[in-house]
Amino acid sequence: MSDQAVSRWMLTLTDGTRIEVPPGTDLVSAARAAGWRWPKSCRNGTCRTCRARVLSGTAVHRIDWPGLSREELDEGWILPCVALPQSDLVIDALCQPDTMSLKPR
Ligand code: FES
Repeated sequence: MSDQAVSRWMLTLTDGTRIEVPPGTDLVSAARAAGWRWPKSCRNGTCRTCRARVLSGTAVHRIDWPGLSREELDEGWILPCVALPQSDLVIDALCQPDTMSLKPR
């Protein structure tokens, strides 16, 4: 399904949290708009504070060189502050308890 064909992608965290993501919106911004706080710092894909792992679905980075190694990218790690969904996503929110502790604002 193309970006133009959907009005929102669904981001699901492993704890069951579901966040709607408008096409063209990064995951951290979508979470914030939905009332969730996502650990973040730089917001430009360099500090890795927001790092998370995709379990299903596809996301692309809106920058050419996000702060992830080739191995991390191959393992499904993304930097949600610069990651745009290309499908519904399931993300492992429990793999990084220090950085993935989403809480309502
Ligand atoms: S907030 Fe720094 S890489 Fe995402």
